[in-house]
Amino acid sequence: MTVFARLIGTGSYLPERRLSNADLATELARKGVETSDEWIVERTGIRARHFAAEQQSASDLALPAAQAAMQAASVTAADVDLIIVATSTPDMVFPSTAALLQHKLGAAGGAAFDVQAVCSGFVYAVAVADSMIKTGAAKTALVVGAEVFSRILDFSDRTTCVLFGDGAGAVVLRGDSHAGILATDLHADGAHSGILCTPGTVSGGQILGKPLLHMDGQAVFKLAVGVLEDTARASLAKAGLGADQVDWLIPHQANIRIMQSCAKRLRIPLEKVVITVDQHGNTSAASIPLALDTAVRDGRIRPGQHVLLEGVGGGFTWGSVLLKT
Ligand code: UT7
Repeated sequence: MTVFARLIGTGSYLPERRLSNADLATELARKGVETSDEWIVERTGIRARHFAAEQQSASDLALPAAQAAMQAASVTAADVDLIIVATSTPDMVFPSTAALLQHKLGAAGGAAFDVQAVCSGFVYAVAVADSMIKTGAAKTALVVGAEVFSRILDFSDRTTCVLFGDGAGAVVLRGDSHAGILATDLHADGAHSGILCTPGTVSGGQILGKPLLHMDGQAVFKLAVGVLEDTARASLAKAGLGADQVDWLIPHQANIRIMQSCAKRLRIPLEKVVITVDQHGNTSAASIPLALDTAVRDGRIRPGQHVLLEGVGGGFTWGSVLLKT
């Protein structure tokens, strides 16, 4: 009997072009924008990020990540009956990046759609796939977070353009009688939509509004720390587990200081926190599956462990997923 959605494979992909803080600072200096490796490392923990090539779209990054996850899970395109892509930087207005990815994978026939919850997108997408597997609407789900945030960065704004990167991460979930995803917890409060947004839209063949990322960093920081603690505790309570039973905490990778504060509030030692923000920057919906795949492939995450994923971002949105590997 299917009781759980079980994680059976992970994968990820980073575009080739890697910029260290020093590389980025040199590029920005040419535009008259001043920043430094010291400032970026001290305030964020970020040391490098990857940027997609001009012709690479979110579905292009999603494809190798999805293929790696499917290979790890030993599933073929024919097995996948649900594809959800979490992205805020889709290939086009429509169709969904998930439908485009489905075609690239040769996986026609199942359901495919995008979830838009910005940096919480992957957690939202996993929660939706979990529900669909539990109700029998899907058997084998491919859930991907894929972003090309470099497309929406304002490179004249040093307070945001040094923070983000591009990439994709993917998981395969399958219905199973063994645990599995133990609990999910999702929230949003649109009252805070203005503190992190890309307000541009397309109308009559024109772009209306500014199609570049805007963030009030301090407002986001303050909100993020509180809601990440709340959602972690909510998922743990639903599963009847204590924070001391968490083997790995994988928070959204936005700022090392947010992750440290989150771990401290939950009394989870930093050694149990998977950190990739230093090498990837903030890849929005891709950050959690990128970190998850990193820790699975380097052998830190092993079968039978409790892993707590937590996302926070534009919307304002936040949520968590607690799973047993
Ligand atoms: O993915 C969704 C979730 N997003 C987040 O979680 C982001 C949350 N926020 C943050 O991570 C932090 O607020 C930031 C990293 C964005 C900013 O760090 P901060 O410690 O809050 O810095 P600040 O905004 O207070 O700026 C401090 C100073 C300012 O100079 P003055 O006014 O004190 O003279 C800024 O102009 O740092 C200056 N500054 C920079 N200096 C060099 C801002 N950006 C830069 C920069 N390089 N790139």
